[in-house]
Amino acid sequence: MSKLDTLLVHGANDKVSYAREVNVPIYLTATFEQKSFEDHTGYGYARGNNPTRESLEYLIKELEGGKRAFAFASGMAATSAALSLFSAGDKVLVAGMVYGGTYGVLKSVFAGFGLRFELVELDRAEDLVPHITEDVKGIFFETPVNPTLKVNDIRGIVKIAKEHSLLTIVDNTFMSPFAQRPLELGVDVVVESATKYLGGHSDIIAGIAAVNDEQLGERLHMIQALQGGILQPFDAYQLIRSIKTLGVRVRQQTHNAYEIAKYLETDPAVKIVHYPGLESDPGYELQRSQADSAGAMLSFELDDQYCPAKFLDSLHIFTLGASLGGVESLIGHPATTSHRGIPEEDRAKFGISDLLIRVSPGIEDTEELIADLAQALRLAKK
Ligand SMILES: Cc1ncc(COP(=O)(O)O)c(C=O)c1O
Repeated sequence: MSKLDTLLVHGANDKVSYAREVNVPIYLTATFEQKSFEDHTGYGYARGNNPTRESLEYLIKELEGGKRAFAFASGMAATSAALSLFSAGDKVLVAGMVYGGTYGVLKSVFAGFGLRFELVELDRAEDLVPHITEDVKGIFFETPVNPTLKVNDIRGIVKIAKEHSLLTIVDNTFMSPFAQRPLELGVDVVVESATKYLGGHSDIIAGIAAVNDEQLGERLHMIQALQGGILQPFDAYQLIRSIKTLGVRVRQQTHNAYEIAKYLETDPAVKIVHYPGLESDPGYELQRSQADSAGAMLSFELDDQYCPAKFLDSLHIFTLGASLGGVESLIGHPATTSHRGIPEEDRAKFGISDLLIRVSPGIEDTEELIADLAQALRLAKK
């Protein structure tokens, strides 16, 4: 059962089946009885392990092509667990831009414990090298980057990281393991907001982290159990259920993203479209070399004769909201939502202008989505 589409449906291995259930049961128990003083089942206290969560973690490990995976209460809990692998005095290079929450937790939480970070603007992986000082211990990056859709070179960054013994962490939220598996390209830790494509229905907050190394896995398991940011059994069940349709959802969303990107390129209200599935995009070749598709996220910049607020308020099918990856089309304004916590100067440097719009197409009818965007653009003229 190695093909991805089959794995999505059958990969959640139910290890503790009593009745040969077709679906993984929800184990609502905080603790487990020991058989005797000396003998227990392998399950102790449910913060450490729960069979429903374990089934999901097994599925994620298989999908990511790793050795261990862990499910958290949110994407931010997963990111925080991964950043907890560092120590006071260490420095992390953040390659390109990252989600505002990641920037926020580095600046407002981890900095207080002595972990420092530097945002590095890069066109090629080699641009990182001058920033690698003695105290640099890791590289954190997204690809494509939220919300600019700039493609980072996974293999190139991994090569540099290995040469300098640095830990690499990739936030794979924009792609999901269906479209991109960074562990297979040598990355150490992959984190993901499972709230997005894995969940796919905008109804759960969840996060995952996966690794390809047993020792690293043991450390992450310890962090997960001690910090306690675990995913609850009901949410783990929901995620297993959602993942069964990940492939069909993401295929349709990717199709919609491509058609929308092609349309937006032709609209006079649009200055530039960022989507690595367009041949005109600077990340097109790199994306093809490291992912199975261009993914379903895109962003674009309005011409300065058009007003973002007017445009966003004129949409009927797209929902103005701060998430992505759901079956319903969502649209957002990063400068005032997901990336508002990033200083204006950094936003400008990394291409997050006030005219930038981020689009997460859902699975609705392609032509209706395009028509909705087109009519709202006509109403957005200043
Ligand atoms: C790229 C990325 N990473 C991480 C997160 C955080 O995930 P969560 O909201 O599940 O905590 C988000 C949320 O928007 C995101 O877009």
